[in-house]
Amino acid sequence: MTHSSDLPVRVTIPALLQRKQKGEKITMLTAYDYPSACLLDRSEVDIVLVGDSLAMVMLGYSNTLPVSMDEMIYHTRAVMRGCRRALVVGDMPFGSYQDGMSQAVQNGIRFIKEGGCAAVKLEGGKQRAGIIAALVEAEVPVIAHVGMTPQSLNRFGGFKVQGKSVHAALSIVEDALAVQEAGAFAVVLESIPAPVGQAITARLHIPTIGIGAGPHCDGQVLVWHDFLGLLDAKPPRFVKKYANLFPEMLEAANSYCREVREGSFPDDQHQYDMVETREFLDRVEEIYGDYSAYPSHEGSFQKGKV
Ligand code: KIV
Repeated sequence: MTHSSDLPVRVTIPALLQRKQKGEKITMLTAYDYPSACLLDRSEVDIVLVGDSLAMVMLGYSNTLPVSMDEMIYHTRAVMRGCRRALVVGDMPFGSYQDGMSQAVQNGIRFIKEGGCAAVKLEGGKQRAGIIAALVEAEVPVIAHVGMTPQSLNRFGGFKVQGKSVHAALSIVEDALAVQEAGAFAVVLESIPAPVGQAITARLHIPTIGIGAGPHCDGQVLVWHDFLGLLDAKPPRFVKKYANLFPEMLEAANSYCREVREGSFPDDQHQYDMVETREFLDRVEEIYGDYSAYPSHEGSFQKGKV
């Protein structure tokens, strides 16, 4: 076996567990394609999640339910081509594990074998404990996801903060304990009150990764398009935009259109020259006649310049 010293050290699951023990925060961001994966791999982020949020932010659906296993694998492979350092996790889409253990294991293994990622994430607490245990048994490491689970959108009646009553909050604590017991190596806590995130984080030995779950979680996750402000849409309250790229990209597109229309792009720096220009133009005129005979080229070709 050869070891190449220029290969970056891959973030591992045991390393993430140690982070919790040492009280060091874990960072996770989503990515769905090769360029975003390359960028995140160059950053300091620990985990790159190929989230099923891609249904909304990449494919334009109004929720995460329609995205398929094949689409998730396609995006995971693209992300894997860009990530040599960060731990990549594939998100199991709706309908890829709800039918039971054998379906879950089959699709979990697809993520590892075909997608090339190191682990999967799936939504649900107590009711998914058996499935999590079966995946872990099949060597498919799992991040669980409790609280506001977007695949339960229809049961919740919308993307609503969960665990606001004592009873509901205690049920989420039970969910988190159940997924830990089942063998998940981390758990995402989404859209729950900060004190609930704090109580769960204090009682688990696996890391909690929050999104709208307050500052006490062991780590945080945000969606690529949200934290970069890539979409012209109001993000949820828990999102902090670390950049606001939509207006900048719009301005870039309009500058391009303006310059093409006024003829200032492409300029000398963005075109190829030809040593034998004179000879070429003479030959082309010889063969095809004077260009001025073609009305569509009138005034657009400055023969006198060559
Ligand atoms: O799909 C996703 O991006 C997620 C994160 C928000 C945790 O599940």
